[in-house]
Amino acid sequence: MCGIVGCTGRDKASDMIIDGLKKLEYRGYDSAGIALLERGKVLVKKKEGRISNLEKEISGERFTATTGIGHTRWATHGSPTDVNAHPHTSQDGRIAIVHNGIIENYQDLRKKLEKKYGIEFRTDTDSEVIAQLLGVLYEGELESAVRKAVKMMEGAYTFGAIAQDEPDKLVAYRKDTPLIAGMGERNCFIASDMTALLKYLDEIYLIDNGEMVVETPDSLRIYSPDGKEINKKPLKITWNQEDAERGGYPHFMLKEIHEQPKAIKETLARRIGRNGKIKLDGIHLTLKDLQKFNKICIVACGTAYHAGLVGKYIIEQMARIPVETDVASEFRYRDPFVDEKTLFIAISQSGETLDTLMSLREAKNKGARILSIVNVVGSSVARESDDVFYTWAGPEIAVASTKAFTTQLVCLYLLALYMADLKGTVTKEYYNSMVSDLKGLPDKAKRVLRKEGQIESMAKLLYNRDNIFFIGRGIDSSLSYEGSLKLKEVSYINSFATAAGELKHGPIALMEPETTVIALATQDRLYDKMFANMEEINARHAHIVAIVKSGDKKAKTVARDVFTIPKCRDELTPMLSIIPLQLFAYFMARERGENIDKPRNLAKSVTVE
Ligand code: F6R
Repeated sequence: MCGIVGCTGRDKASDMIIDGLKKLEYRGYDSAGIALLERGKVLVKKKEGRISNLEKEISGERFTATTGIGHTRWATHGSPTDVNAHPHTSQDGRIAIVHNGIIENYQDLRKKLEKKYGIEFRTDTDSEVIAQLLGVLYEGELESAVRKAVKMMEGAYTFGAIAQDEPDKLVAYRKDTPLIAGMGERNCFIASDMTALLKYLDEIYLIDNGEMVVETPDSLRIYSPDGKEINKKPLKITWNQEDAERGGYPHFMLKEIHEQPKAIKETLARRIGRNGKIKLDGIHLTLKDLQKFNKICIVACGTAYHAGLVGKYIIEQMARIPVETDVASEFRYRDPFVDEKTLFIAISQSGETLDTLMSLREAKNKGARILSIVNVVGSSVARESDDVFYTWAGPEIAVASTKAFTTQLVCLYLLALYMADLKGTVTKEYYNSMVSDLKGLPDKAKRVLRKEGQIESMAKLLYNRDNIFFIGRGIDSSLSYEGSLKLKEVSYINSFATAAGELKHGPIALMEPETTVIALATQDRLYDKMFANMEEINARHAHIVAIVKSGDKKAKTVARDVFTIPKCRDELTPMLSIIPLQLFAYFMARERGENIDKPRNLAKSVTVE
């Protein structure tokens, strides 16, 4: 959602900040702004809408400042206007801040500041109270004012601040939303997301809750919540700048769909040893642990939740442990049955999704063992877990998640198989052939991608449909939810997904001539049942697009379009059948001229409820 970038050093701050903010555009925002320590004064420029509006506003300005902060805002309190955009300043204009999160007691603080100090608030935001508080608490040293201010604020408040009287200083504080800091050769930086800084830094410091960063052009100091300077180990950045660029593709979403074979390979390569045995990074999951667990809870949101639905099928089937998969926003408020006999698995690309993080804390408080499947190294979910299983998808920039999903699935397969092997619930032959089939997936995924043209042609015919249905049985039903989510997110077409067996219990009432139905029929075990469902809807003259395994001769007798994926065992089909669904969503959105990488109302990382 909101993004923060700040720097102090030797180079032009405005260029570095705008460049960093552009890298954060993918997170979703509706206004952007920058504050600079320019010729002895705090200078603020902010604009509603895209960063290009802000660039237009400042074009022609000859900034020389080498210290500044910038922000992309996703409106929560107050509409997305120029005035409500960050940075915000203190009444006297000498201090500026940018903030991510929500100040829960901002109304109380606002009243106090108005009454006691006669502060006149200029915006409708909760964030302005930080600037005004710092303004009244400031006595010549920004970090002291920050220390006092954070004692008075409640909620989530990661912020960066600069002060006119300390021209070469940048102070930042973290509470509940991400903050990183780093020192390059010529400049020091802070940001809410490492993609903003890939160009400038090789290593970063992950700032924890309650810690404060104080930067000058030559120093970066980090203080613990009790005010002591701490020595942190920096984290080497493994992503590179090209990963976060479009590289010739018209959209990040298409690039990331095409990156899947590589991402799957990377995620597998680190976990399958030369002896063909699975090794789970540093995760110590013993047979004794597994015997202790009486269930697994998988908790996630959106696409990651759909990966969790597939996880339920494969873990239960292979490792024979009961699995509940839940959306995080439900899990955290339903006082779930979780205790020390529960293995809790959080799945999150960003590792910052608030509901997922809060669910994790709830499970931890109840004694569960916490394992997370996360893409962003050092993210909050990762840091608060007992064990982390990283997906090696690289940065995912498009709002619609694609390669994160397939790599989350790879982790779930590896985990399921590892646990099954420990428990002895699968034979050696099964284990070995599954490992070999997993290794074969990148090539098969490439074969699916080569047939992209077929999906593109289909989209050209179907793009103006108002409703599209997705159905499937067993593991295919989870995929139908994901296919439907992808389509509505980027094309804005109304879409509905259901387990095909549920059709007769209601949704079949919606079938009429030309209704478009994407039917996943990749499960050999359930094929006849699924075929019967397709016959039922074909009898209502619906337009069926069937996704089946290659060699299928029957589907074309009921479906108008058939897309085949390479033959593979039933458990692994999601890795391949998701690709035509992702491409379908992409091409449908493209035909409709939508803003594919940044769909309306959506943010990449949902750090508020
Ligand atoms: C859909 C999508 C979202 C995310 C969800 C969870 O394409 O991207 O549904 O999957 O917001 O995000 P993470 O995985 O970052 O926790």
